[in-house]
Amino acid sequence: MTPAWAQLGYLAAAVCFIVALKALSSPKTARRGNLIGAAGAVLACVITFLVSDINHLLPIVAAIAAGTAIGVLGAYRVQMTQMPQLVALFNGVGGGAAAIVAIIELADLGAGPAPIFDLIATAFTIVVGSVSFAGSVVTFLKLQELMTTRPIVFGGYPIVYGLGLLAAVAFSVGLVLAPSLLFALLLAAIGAGLGVLLVLPVGGADVPIVISLLNAFTGLTVAASGYLLENILLLVAGTLVGSAGTLLTRLMANAMGRSVINILFGALKGGSTLGATTVSDRPVKSAGPADVAILLAYAQRVIIVPGYGLAVAQAQHTLRQLVDLLTERGAHVDYAIHPVAGRMPGHMNVLLAEAQVPYEQLKEMDEIDPEFKQADVALVVGANDVVNPAAETTPGAPIYGMPILHANQARQVVFMKRSMRPGFAGIENELLYEPTTTLLFGDAKDTMSKLLAELKALTV
Ligand code: TAP
Repeated sequence: MTPAWAQLGYLAAAVCFIVALKALSSPKTARRGNLIGAAGAVLACVITFLVSDINHLLPIVAAIAAGTAIGVLGAYRVQMTQMPQLVALFNGVGGGAAAIVAIIELADLGAGPAPIFDLIATAFTIVVGSVSFAGSVVTFLKLQELMTTRPIVFGGYPIVYGLGLLAAVAFSVGLVLAPSLLFALLLAAIGAGLGVLLVLPVGGADVPIVISLLNAFTGLTVAASGYLLENILLLVAGTLVGSAGTLLTRLMANAMGRSVINILFGALKGGSTLGATTVSDRPVKSAGPADVAILLAYAQRVIIVPGYGLAVAQAQHTLRQLVDLLTERGAHVDYAIHPVAGRMPGHMNVLLAEAQVPYEQLKEMDEIDPEFKQADVALVVGANDVVNPAAETTPGAPIYGMPILHANQARQVVFMKRSMRPGFAGIENELLYEPTTTLLFGDAKDTMSKLLAELKALTV
């Protein structure tokens, strides 16, 4: 029986997690939220050590020390653009750990007649935890480009997947009726196979959504292992992660105008969820930094559309300086934040917060979109799909149905990108060929510095 003081401590940790989730929903409070969540986790670990009879203290402490060292090093070294794969790995090991705990717990349950719900929770944790682990490893390999980012499907996929699901159900029933280590290991192997199969058909641009879905799976397995271990805190934390992951998956899918089923299995219908990456050689209007600086110098209303390329180039600090200068010159400048710009939720908010851009200048899509009509210049920095009119005009395009920012309604549109290559969806952007569009080619950090220098020269 857990003592009352420890129960209270667990309650405090659970409150920390809830407050942390709330704080994470705004860039202003996200940092604090992260710290509060981490404090809750430390409190929970300390209490667990104090109230449990621990047999293998040395290996446990060694494992925690090694895990902490790897986690801290990984988090310090990772580039902002690699954050989704880091989240995928952390999530995967969470699911894998829950599955291993369930397999070990089975040995205890097997000693006497086990309650049926415990056995159902064990089977569930092993299967879903293994799905989450193996699926997360494949998402990591895809995002790190250690394997192809294109969807992988093969003849008979639906049959193999269906048989895998049937086997998972059959062995789960077997485990509940006759608990044994063999059934548990077979279930783990089937779960791992299903996890790999789940992620293979998903195209690179959709992988972050699958990470969020797998995150929800891990939450559910942690909640189930909380039930097994009679640990209320694990139950609460797992449920929070499960529901937050589910909500995030739905929000991201809605922002891309797609259903979760289409994201997961769209490639099976024959078409790829990524488009063709051919680039036409039609003429475009390009200009140098000096010309664009003049265009901006005369603009009263400027809207910046940041995208993935801004993060790749790490041009956020120079962009902020440019916006500051334009504002000093009397222009009204805002940043238009598309919900799926970049490669992870809140990517642009985090990136621009890093450059200390005031939050008031970051405008969500619904708020800023009607203002493009009044804008003299829409400056598109390393973005592409989020302003691509094909989302509205080309049924069958991978982004068809995704709400876009109507940068095309501004008097002038300037794209800062390195080439005519498409965005992540792999399709051409007609806006690049419009007469009102000017391309400023080059790495965004490099061209932004030149643009800033030209604008400064015009200002003095
Ligand atoms: P993208 O459509 O991927 O376009 C990025 C653009 O940046 C490309 O046109 C690229 O052109 C340019 N670029 C890359 N590196 C650059 C550099 N160093 N300097 C200048 N330009 C550079 O990005 P987006 O508009 O942000 O759209 C995001 C895409 O990711 C959408 O398709 C979205 O559905 C998908 N997605 C997002 C999320 C989340 S949650 N954010 C999740 C899943 C999928 P060049 O190569 O010619 O330079």
